Amino acid sequence: MYHKIINMSSKNKFYISTPIYYANAAPHIGSTYTTVAADVLARYHKLLGDKVFFLTGTDEHGDKIARSAAKAGKSPQAFVDEQAANFLEAWEKMNIGYDNFLRTTDPKHKLAAQKALEYLYSNGYIYKGEYRGLYCVGCEQYKTEKDLVDGQCPDHGVKPEEMLEECYMFKLSAFADDLKNKIEKDELRILPAERKNEVLGFLRTEKLEDIACSRKNVKWGIALPWDSEHTTYVWIEAFLNYLTGLGWDGDPKSAPEMWPPQIQLMAKDILRVHATIWPALLLALGLPIPETLFIHGYFLVDGQKMSKSLGNVIAPEDLINKYGADATRYLLMSATVFGRDGDIGWTKFDEKYNADLANGLGNLVARTSNLLEKNEIEIELKAGGDQDLISKFNSEIANYHFDEALRVLWQKLREMDEYISEQAPWKIKDKAATLPILKTVAQNILNVVVLLQPFMPATAEKIIKQFSEKRIKKGEALFPRIGDAKVDKRAGN
Ligand code: MSP
Repeated sequence: MYHKIINMSSKNKFYISTPIYYANAAPHIGSTYTTVAADVLARYHKLLGDKVFFLTGTDEHGDKIARSAAKAGKSPQAFVDEQAANFLEAWEKMNIGYDNFLRTTDPKHKLAAQKALEYLYSNGYIYKGEYRGLYCVGCEQYKTEKDLVDGQCPDHGVKPEEMLEECYMFKLSAFADDLKNKIEKDELRILPAERKNEVLGFLRTEKLEDIACSRKNVKWGIALPWDSEHTTYVWIEAFLNYLTGLGWDGDPKSAPEMWPPQIQLMAKDILRVHATIWPALLLALGLPIPETLFIHGYFLVDGQKMSKSLGNVIAPEDLINKYGADATRYLLMSATVFGRDGDIGWTKFDEKYNADLANGLGNLVARTSNLLEKNEIEIELKAGGDQDLISKFNSEIANYHFDEALRVLWQKLREMDEYISEQAPWKIKDKAATLPILKTVAQNILNVVVLLQPFMPATAEKIIKQFSEKRIKKGEALFPRIGDAKVDKRAGN
């Protein structure tokens, strides 16, 4: 088979994670974007022959979840069970090949988190204190005055609650210099560069304070093993998922084999905590820190922030229902530069789907296979592909330029489209004379599709199978054009 022809017999370890998503909301196009990108990278590294582990999951404890459960009239556990099932279903539909889906209510995660906290407490990294602050329930975070806009949390549009409580504190301040150094030297690499600068700017101008790591009045959480009146602050606990998701039992002396992560993906909303609390926790535990944090951007819909009140939310299942999983993956990954905000919208998606998938890949495969079948041509395509194409593609992926990597492939498809149109093999009477033309096109399609596997796994597999036969036959239409009423299943269309 051709599946492995980008195999460069690399045998590296590749541990990749997404954030664990709050189990109080349905999968969002933003969490879908992170998860699809992680899936593309994980599949790509599997094709290279790397030892890959891809972790995702749900963040199920804390005040915010408990309040959402109460609002829904459900027990917190029943509520998160339902929510987690929604994520699992969405990722299955999106063809996400994670190696583990970690739920923080998993008893093994709880036990390991307690063991780790116990270690931090007995080694003096956690101490008893008191915290007064402005707490935003939406963010599950204390806010400084500086974070607020007109006294309100800019992300949630609500005034944070003033709180004073006895709590345990984590000695974050002790790691300020170490963190700054490690980020400066790229020992903790933060990408893109502007995000690294943003974090360094913050670390250089603001004093890193110790943070509250427990809550006394939040029952829905993991109890501190030495003081059961307190539960762990959800953010501290959540970070440990990246370790417990590998089966870690909480013992700092035995890191899992796949530790540390080669890359952790997220959007800018949670960069600061991932660049401070998270590596500080690891330093306190004496464990290696992640190699790279990659911060991608947000989607705007037709120039506006996506929000329920504007009624412009694009849900992942709407995309899948309209375009199918592979096309959705393609549309998301090609929509914008990974790392920058990007503008999306139904019109843009429809146009891109028709241009690149229906008229592009789909039509080229159909034309070529149809002629091969009609002219009864027998060919054998070779594995190994096109080194130039492979190296261009690889270098874009190495820089996380997913949209560019896809452009490299589509450029090749366009060349083949032009070539076949120029040669017009359908006009050639002598069937045998069409062989070299069709073989060239078929070989190039195969070269492209092999590289496309991480992005569009089901489509690529179909075409690879089709083009692995000596006698290639015309298959079913891969991407019916959008615009035909029968194709457009989205409500309201
Ligand atoms: N539970 C925490 C993360 C803990 S990780 C130890 C959390 N959850 S979240 O559900 O709010 O997910 C945040 C992440 O979801 C973002 O960092 C990003 O990966 C993705 N996105 C959710 N909405 C998004 C957008 N509107 N745009 C882009 N991505 C966003 O924070």
